[in-house]
Amino acid sequence: MKSRKVNLAVLASGSGSNLAALIDGVNDGVITDARVSVVISNKKDAYALQRAEKTGIQGISIKRSDFACDKDFDRYLLKKLREFKIDVVLLAGYMRILTEPVLEAYRERILNIHPSLLPEFGGKGMYGMRVHEEVIKSGAPVSGCTVHLVDENIDRGPILAQASVSVLPGETPQELAAKVLKEEHKLYPATVQKFIAELDI
Ligand code: GAR
Repeated sequence: MKSRKVNLAVLASGSGSNLAALIDGVNDGVITDARVSVVISNKKDAYALQRAEKTGIQGISIKRSDFACDKDFDRYLLKKLREFKIDVVLLAGYMRILTEPVLEAYRERILNIHPSLLPEFGGKGMYGMRVHEEVIKSGAPVSGCTVHLVDENIDRGPILAQASVSVLPGETPQELAAKVLKEEHKLYPATVQKFIAELDI
């Protein structure tokens, strides 16, 4: 039993279907003892922000061009995370690389979901549909998704959980993406629940 609710921030740049799965996870009791306290996006038009608003969660957008460099952007992001007393940061389709101010402050407290079986098909430039295109090109018979801790090494932080799907002959990247996304929506809330259960809060 926690002494209080764990405060989660979800960082998202796109449609936010994983954000929706996390919010559902909290509402359906898959994730206990935590709440999504804020949704932060680097894209003001991200549908994730609308999803946040619809569910009564505060959404914030931060524009990279308002800052001189990535570190300044992340210093401001960190200020927001602190304002909301965030304990754990969840990346859900967040299309920026986090830098030292946030990585240091939230060491071992940042999770990401990636749409492949890491360490395969990860690293700089490997995100979204690009990943599925490369998987299909490679002829790999299996793909999936990975939840991992975020550190300085892109997509190389310790793996917390994975789920796999088979890649069928003739499958398109879009078809594979939809199949993987379905697994993401189950894997991410379940892994977040396990992760926070072990936190000393
Ligand atoms: C998800 O497939 C997620 O794994 C991927 O972006 C998609 C976001 O979808 N993330 C990455 O590629 C990160 N490297 P969503 O906005 O509907 O959750």
